[in-house]
Amino acid sequence: MININVLYPIILCCCLAAVPQVRAKHLPEYVAESANAIDKEVETYNFTSCQIYCYGPLLHTVQMAKLFPDSKTFVDMKLKASPEKTMELFEAFMASKNNAPTNDEIRKFVNDNFGDKGTELEVWSPTDWVENPAFLNLVNDPDLKQWGMDLNNIWKELGRKMKDDVHKNPEYYSIIPVPNPVIVPGGRFIEFYYWDSYWIIRGLLYCEMRNTARGMIENLMSIVQRIGFIPNGGRVYYWGRSQPPLLAGMVKSYVDFTKDDRFAINALEILEHEFEYFINNHSVQAKGHDLAVYRDSSKGPRPESYSEDVETAESFHTDEAKEDHYSELKSAAESGMDFSSRWYINENGTNIGNLSDAKTRSIVPVDLNAILYWNAKIIAEFHAKAGNVDKMAEYETKAQKIKEAIQAVLWNEEAGCWLDYDLINEKPRDYFVTSNLAPLWVKAYNISDTDKISASVLSYIEKNKLDTFPGGVPNTLYHTGEQWDFPNVWAPLQYIVIEGLDNIGTPEAQKLSKSWGHRWVKSNFAAYRDSRAMFEKYDAEKFGGHGGGGEYGVQKGFGWTNGVIIEWLAKYGHEISLSNTGAAGPNSRFVSLLGVTAIALIGAFAGRFIWRTWFK
Ligand SMILES: *[C@@H]1O[C@H](CO)[C@@H](O)[C@H](O)[C@H]1NC(C)=O
Ligand SMILES: *[C@@H]1O[C@H](CO)[C@@H](O)[C@H](O)[C@H]1NC(C)=O
Ligand SMILES: *[C@@H]1O[C@H](CO)[C@@H](O)[C@H](O)[C@H]1NC(C)=O
Ligand SMILES: *[C@@H]1O[C@H](CO)[C@@H](O)[C@H](O)[C@H]1NC(C)=O
Ligand SMILES: *[C@@H]1O[C@H](CO)[C@@H](O)[C@H](O)[C@H]1NC(C)=O
Repeated sequence: MININVLYPIILCCCLAAVPQVRAKHLPEYVAESANAIDKEVETYNFTSCQIYCYGPLLHTVQMAKLFPDSKTFVDMKLKASPEKTMELFEAFMASKNNAPTNDEIRKFVNDNFGDKGTELEVWSPTDWVENPAFLNLVNDPDLKQWGMDLNNIWKELGRKMKDDVHKNPEYYSIIPVPNPVIVPGGRFIEFYYWDSYWIIRGLLYCEMRNTARGMIENLMSIVQRIGFIPNGGRVYYWGRSQPPLLAGMVKSYVDFTKDDRFAINALEILEHEFEYFINNHSVQAKGHDLAVYRDSSKGPRPESYSEDVETAESFHTDEAKEDHYSELKSAAESGMDFSSRWYINENGTNIGNLSDAKTRSIVPVDLNAILYWNAKIIAEFHAKAGNVDKMAEYETKAQKIKEAIQAVLWNEEAGCWLDYDLINEKPRDYFVTSNLAPLWVKAYNISDTDKISASVLSYIEKNKLDTFPGGVPNTLYHTGEQWDFPNVWAPLQYIVIEGLDNIGTPEAQKLSKSWGHRWVKSNFAAYRDSRAMFEKYDAEKFGGHGGGGEYGVQKGFGWTNGVIIEWLAKYGHEISLSNTGAAGPNSRFVSLLGVTAIALIGAFAGRFIWRTWFK
């Protein structure tokens, strides 16, 4: 194996020759103007509308009245007067009702002072949409090709643009203003979400919608400039939590597709800022190494699930214990896996329990650290493009340190895989979670160990019987009724697992990757054929089944699911045929069982007939 350090000077020389050192302003004015003002603004940034939508007595009173079936409805409603004026009206209202208004009175207050939800966005038909993106030519099966066309059409349904009034009067809304139109996930999720955007943007790039993809990335960058990091989603009430930090991955995807190195170079300052935010703000020490955990820095219940959180906090008796519980829930929300037994630590140090056992902040997550390693690698790569030798070396060193910490704390020799680490009991959590395989995706391991890691991980997969599920790899193996537990399957984690097995590059891992990739495409297609819908999550136990459970009803749309399928139609479309439903699970097994039985019966009757006719 060639030592990579030897290669750096060579790579650098090539880069220096190839890329003129221009730092041309490529970003829109909106982003570029304040490019040096990140640090100062971060400290002082405060959303005026937070007193309505993030915390405080008005939020508490309205949300505890449970006026709407989904708690998210209220926090997405528009104000009719300024936040200050609304608070004055609210105080007068409370005083007039002796601080004990009835639900009907609260409903009237809300009707008088708030407009409908979702009025800040209008449907937007992407201007760079094309009818026949080239990836469709790679798909042989006519039904799959038609499906690819349908999915390409769905982008038009999920496009949203902010009305001018949002830019003029942002304090009247909970939405965070951004300069460019977005593609939203769909269903109840009517704003952009952070990690969802990674798979949406890749899908857009395969559909040749480069302007829309770049616009979404620039939105996120403008948010880093204003707020210092990217909240969970595009609402002020998500301000204390982020999501798996995939902005660098989005920029890299865009640059890989477009070869627009200047875009990469111009993004560096923002990417570094976000990376440093995560490293500094989320760090813990485990076995003498620095690693990151999911964390939240706001107070109180989740504004969009307020009464639900107050209820799960009922088993805690002090304000401090309740506040800790809210933090654990919001930190789980930051992971994107809200909720899951992945975050439970009970009194015995196992994952058996319920939401009251959430201890997210005490669990060192494999995926977050792998993604941070990838961030450092991408930043180093972009510095190489810019010819910044010292900065490239600095971020390579940061990446190596994270990789060593992942190896030392999260790799588990006995399990043969990476495992989340429990900081309370100082022990690995030997439970299957799809995210345990995330280091494969971003190659956050020693490349010289490739063969050994591939063999270990494949036997870990075998041991956990992960190849036995007809509808995809379930997120965990524990059935709790929470949506990120068994039997639900989620597109982004299928993507991380399946691309990870492909990336490690051994023939055995690639074979499994392909078989799982084909199965996912076929199973999603079966669900689509039956219901004409793309879902947020699917069911591991049923080929073509879609998921349920958790906090809200079935959501359709659905941005990241569509993005993953579009990418895999491009990847596998030349070799998948629906008539050849090889690994199609119980349905086809049942059909073939019927077939065999029928042939046996016909054979038996025919035999009897022949026997009788000729031998009697
Ligand atoms: C933000 O502003 C509101 C009202 O202007 C204030 O009540 C709140 O404490 C501020 N929050 C922060 C974090 O500065
Ligand atoms: C993380 O950032 C938030 C928001 O800027 C801040 O309130 C909090 O104190 C920070 N936490 C740590 C551990 O640095
Ligand atoms: C979790 O289980 C414990 C013990 O059975 C119970 O006291 C608590 O209320 C439960 N919490 C939730 C959120 O269901
Ligand atoms: C913890 O272990 C004890 C002893 O085995 C058992 O009685 C108890 O139910 C366990 N608690 C949980 C939450 O599993
Ligand atoms: C990677 O391999 C090298 C050489 O075998 C070794 O020195 C280093 O400690 C390994 N690093 C990790 C993170 O395992």
